[in-house]
Amino acid sequence: MVQIFLNFWADLISADTIHLVVKPYWAMHVLLVNGPNLNLLGHREENLYGSKDLKSIENELESIAKNEGVTLECFQSNFEGALIEKVHQAMGKKDGILINAGAYTHTSIALRDALLGTSIPFVELHLSNTFARERFRHKSFLAEKAVGVVIGFGSMSYELALHGLIAHLRRD
Ligand code: DQA
Repeated sequence: MVQIFLNFWADLISADTIHLVVKPYWAMHVLLVNGPNLNLLGHREENLYGSKDLKSIENELESIAKNEGVTLECFQSNFEGALIEKVHQAMGKKDGILINAGAYTHTSIALRDALLGTSIPFVELHLSNTFARERFRHKSFLAEKAVGVVIGFGSMSYELALHGLIAHLRRD
């Protein structure tokens, strides 16, 4: 009886169990990166991107993350280099990245390399359905390396992408 009791506790605190139980639920840190022109959300081409501004989207996502026991840091820049540096700084600090790289999605090998360089799992997302738009938006330099891609659900793409990323990280 005593032996069974001791085995039970030994199993419970094994490294694998700690990783499974503790890391995914209490120590998950996610970075949300928004690229160029996404600071204009709410004013910009509302027919494509909706009427919510970026701050509202970030606030909503923060509360979803909090409910899930995940910390969320939000970052937006119109500069490719700043986005790359932010991704570099996530190394060793973040478990996952959500990224709407805006137009850099279709042009930036450097941003793709930054994401690959950190080896942090990431989800690409877009408000609009880029495949229903101009041909140059059909190409993504990031998609092939992403855990998954969420496109076309407006501001809901952010929520879906967060849930997808969390589920992916908890599965690891
Ligand atoms: C976008 C789609 C891109 O093609 C565009 O350049 C954007 C926004 C989206 O969220 O739908 O800036 O990333």
